[in-house]
Amino acid sequence: MSGMDTGTLHGPGAAASLLASARRIVVFTGAGVSTDSGIPDFRSTGGRDGGLWTRYDPRKLSFGRYKADPDVRRQAWKLRRELSAIQARPNPAHLACVRLAELGRLAGVITQNVDGLHGDAGLDPELLVEVHGTGRIAVCLACGDRRPMAEAVARVEAGEPDPPCLLCGGILKAATVSFGQGIPPEVWARAQAMTDACDGFVAVGSSLVVHPAAGLPRRAAAKGATLVVINREPTPLDPMADAVCHGEAGSLLPGLVDSLSA
Ligand code: APR
Repeated sequence: MSGMDTGTLHGPGAAASLLASARRIVVFTGAGVSTDSGIPDFRSTGGRDGGLWTRYDPRKLSFGRYKADPDVRRQAWKLRRELSAIQARPNPAHLACVRLAELGRLAGVITQNVDGLHGDAGLDPELLVEVHGTGRIAVCLACGDRRPMAEAVARVEAGEPDPPCLLCGGILKAATVSFGQGIPPEVWARAQAMTDACDGFVAVGSSLVVHPAAGLPRRAAAKGATLVVINREPTPLDPMADAVCHGEAGSLLPGLVDSLSA
C-alpha cells in the first residue's frame, strides 16, 4: 500500500497500526541509528553532532582518489583511527531489530552502516545485509588479504600513516563500499531479494539520498509493502511513505517493536 493514495500518516501509533499485520518486515538502517552509540552520522549539520561530511570531503575520499593519492589514504586512516577510538556499543535501536527477529516478524536488516553494531547486538548474520560493507575488516586491493581493521589501526598508531599489505605490499582499505566503488553483486542481490519478499519496510536513521541503497524503500513500496520512515529530519521519501515518524531512532524503533509485540 503506497502513501500516494491514502496520504501519509504521522506518528508512531499510525506506524504500528499500519504494520500490525506485517509478518515479514525489513528494517533499513542508516547512520542515524548509531549516533546514540557515539558514532557521528554523515549529513547532520551544525553543533557537536555535525556529520562526518561536515569535517571530511567525501569527494576526496572516492575510491579512485584513495588508490591514487597517499595523502587521501593518510586522511582516511586518520578517520578510521578516530572512529575506532569511539569503542561504540549497540544501542536500543539495534536491540529492537533483534527483538523483532525474536518475534519472528523480521525479514531482515539492510544496513548502510559499516560499524558492525547490528552484529554486535546479536542479530543473526543470515538476517543482516551490510550493503556498504564493513569497516571492521581491512582488505588489500592487490591480493585480497583480509585482516581485522583493529590490527591495521594499531599499525597506524605505531607510526605507519598508510600501512601496506603485510603479504604483498599492496594498498590496504576498509572493506567498505566507497563513492566510485560498486556494491558487490551478491550483496545487492540479497538486499533486493529481502526487499521484494517483505510486506513492511521501515527505513530508520537515514537521509535516503545515497543510491542505489535509497532506491530500496521505493522498490518495497512499489511491490505493495507498507513503507514507514523514522528519522530526526524529513527525507525525500516522506511524501510517498504510508507513515512517517520524526524523532529519535533510539526511542521510536523500540517503541514500534513494543507495539508490534503487544
Ligand atoms: N534518531 C533519528 N534520526 C537520526 C538520529 C537519531 N538519533 N541521528 C541522526 N539522525 C538522522 C539525521 O537527521 C539524518 O537525516 O539520520 C540521518 C542520517 O543521514 P546521513 O548522515 O546521510 O547517513 P546515511 O543516510 O546513513 O548515509 C548513507 O552515505 O556517505 C554515505 O556510505 C555513507 O552509508 C552512508 C550513506
